[in-house]
Amino acid sequence: MLVLGLESSCDETGVALYDSEKKQLLAHSLHSQVAMHAEYGGVVPELASRDHVDRIVGLVEECVLKANIAWQDIDVIAYTQGPGLGGALLVAAGFAHGLALSLDKPLIPVHHLEGHLLSPLLSENKPQFPFVALLVSGGHTQFFKVADIGEYELLCESVDDAAGEAFDKTAKLLGLPYPGGAELSRLAAFGNDKAYTFPRPMLHSKDLNMSFSCLKTAVLTKIMELTQDTQRELSDNEIYDIAASFQAAAVEVLRKKAQKALELTGLTRLVVAGGVGANQALRAALKKLNAEVYFPELQWCTDNGAMIALAGAMHLDQREKTQSFTVKPRWSLTDINN
Ligand code: KG4
Ligand code: ZN
Repeated sequence: MLVLGLESSCDETGVALYDSEKKQLLAHSLHSQVAMHAEYGGVVPELASRDHVDRIVGLVEECVLKANIAWQDIDVIAYTQGPGLGGALLVAAGFAHGLALSLDKPLIPVHHLEGHLLSPLLSENKPQFPFVALLVSGGHTQFFKVADIGEYELLCESVDDAAGEAFDKTAKLLGLPYPGGAELSRLAAFGNDKAYTFPRPMLHSKDLNMSFSCLKTAVLTKIMELTQDTQRELSDNEIYDIAASFQAAAVEVLRKKAQKALELTGLTRLVVAGGVGANQALRAALKKLNAEVYFPELQWCTDNGAMIALAGAMHLDQREKTQSFTVKPRWSLTDINN
């Protein structure tokens, strides 16, 4: 089956074509809106929706051309139904429904987080089920026990900010442009991660939950301490050291909780997905765990159409021609079957 995957839940318009028999990605096209939103310091939902509308047709045409297929070769259309920004979600959902009607093909609604979570399956070296999944993105920091496709048990999550959000907010405090997480980690490589001791929130809590907002507050306090009396800007070296020390704290929390999640479940495989999964320090720390650790390729860490096409291919039994036109801006992965 040839699955067309469409993603528009936030600030990336993603399209991909996946062959479920060959288990092979045929083509993908992506447009990131990061540069457009950077001017405002965050995602502007209305601008995001409009840009998806402007891009989606061209990206789908480009993808069909790259894969060298005919429109009728598409067997099924998978689209992100949620969670995400309501208006943005409507773009891929609306386009999917229109295309399905015109080609007389079935649709599969996909849960965005399931797409992230299954994205390591796009690699040659695929994890087997069951595994522990760490979903670490701009909106979520969660551990799941994944027994099989569609069987997701939430083990724990951040009680406040997501890890990516903490990276982005800390980057902003350091004067880096939105979204900042990747740039912060690039600058951290020049710094001393022991220069400042930032808290490891909830590191020793009995449960697996995490907190990242006080870490960001500790960075703010440190910046004020360094600059307030002298009314000066942070030096480059101070920025590098704060970035490195912040990253070391965030990574240690995630590594410790990952270890606990593996111990608690008795599982030996860990799958890491989501934007922060691109972080090299996190990758290096998790690779040292006594477990098989899987990451998506860097290009599949942030939002994309390939992970949606793949998730669609895993749910071919759920394809339907007649569907109510709904999106689910708020949708827990543990409610995936509702
Ligand atoms: O998964 P994603 O594209 O979007 C959501 O669904 O949230 O993740 C985006 C998040 C942003 O917070 C971004 O700053 C963060 O992932 N991110 C990183 C890195 N690359 C992206 N955070 C830390 N280190 C990175 N290298
Ligand atoms: Zn995402």
